[in-house]
Parts: sequence; structure tokens; C-alpha cells
Amino acid sequence: MEIRYFREDDLLQIASIEKLSINPPWSYNALCDFARYDTNNILVCEENSEIWGYITYSIIIDEVQIANVAVHPSHRRKGIGKCLLDTLHNKARQDNMSTITLEVRQSNTPAIALYEKCGYYVVGTRKGYYKNPTEDAKLMNLTL
Ligand code: COA
Repeated sequence: MEIRYFREDDLLQIASIEKLSINPPWSYNALCDFARYDTNNILVCEENSEIWGYITYSIIIDEVQIANVAVHPSHRRKGIGKCLLDTLHNKARQDNMSTITLEVRQSNTPAIALYEKCGYYVVGTRKGYYKNPTEDAKLMNLTL
């Protein structure tokens, strides 16, 4: 299993995991647009030429904003989500980032458990941030 930066030809597999995992998902075209900007990046987990999981994120000055973390449903609970986050944290520390921020649906127990295990803490709520169904977002931060 290898964690590495994405290549353009990973984006179709990333889009298919996104569709299985995120509500609402980014389309393949939205991922291509995201990947075009230098301040955005994606880390992927690859095994046998297959993408098993990824993190999409942006850098804003000294802050990393996570857009999404997802692992293919067949490969969850094997430590991949944590490994992706640990790799991002190490890279962010090397680059002198100060904070990592994210939003998560308040009902998303697996993701919240993962973030808490990695040291993230709740800093606020965005009322009605998510649609279909409408739901509040928890804002979580990790201080590096
Ligand atoms: N229930 C409870 N705790 C969970 C969990 C679950 N279903 N999944 C992960 N965790 C917590 C546990 O503490 C776990 O440690 P443990 O296995 O030793 O108990 C820890 O997170 C690490 O789990 P890991 O195996 O690395 O997570 P994963 O590879 O399965 O990925 C997600 C976790 C959240 C990325 C995965 O469930 C996913 O892709 N979900 C759909 C997409 C999503 O909701 N992303 C977040 C958007 S903000």
C-alpha cells in the first residue's frame, strides 16, 4: 500500500469512490477543475494499481482545508483513512502549516470518530450547511 500525490489518470477512480462515499459527491469534471489549481492537492492510497482512498485539500496561507476524505467501501476499517490523514499531517508539519480545518455532517459518526482519533476537536457548527438531507456541519480543527 502506498500513499502518494495524485496523477491525472487517478481522477476517474477517485470520482467513482467519491460517488460511493460522499453526499453530494463531486463529479469527475468538478475533481478535474479542483485539481487544476496549484493551491489544491490530492493524496491517494494505492494498492496493486487501484486507488483505495484519497484526501482532497486546499492550502490557504498556513492553513490546510480538507475538502473530503474517502475510502472505498470494500476497504474501510483497515487503517487507510488514518494513514491518509497521518501522511497529510506530516507533510503539513514539514511545510510549516499551523492548522488543519474541515467540516463534517454531524451524523457522520465514522468520520467524526476518525478525526477525533487523529486529534481534531470541534470548534463550531454551521447551521443547515448540508442539503439532501439538510443537516448541520461540525467544524473541526487540528492544531499542528
Ligand atoms: N465506526 C466507528 N469508528 C470508526 C469507523 C466506524 N465505521 N470508521 C473509522 N472509525 C474510527 C475508529 O476509531 C478507527 O480506529 P479502529 O479501527 O482502530 O477502531 C479509526 O477511525 C481509523 O479508521 P480507518 O480504518 O483508518 O478508517 P477508514 O479507512 O475506514 O476511513 C472514513 C474512514 C470516514 C474515511 C470512511 O468511513 C469513509 O470513506 N466514509 C465515507 C466518506 C466520508 O464520510 N468521509 C468524510 C467526509 S467529511
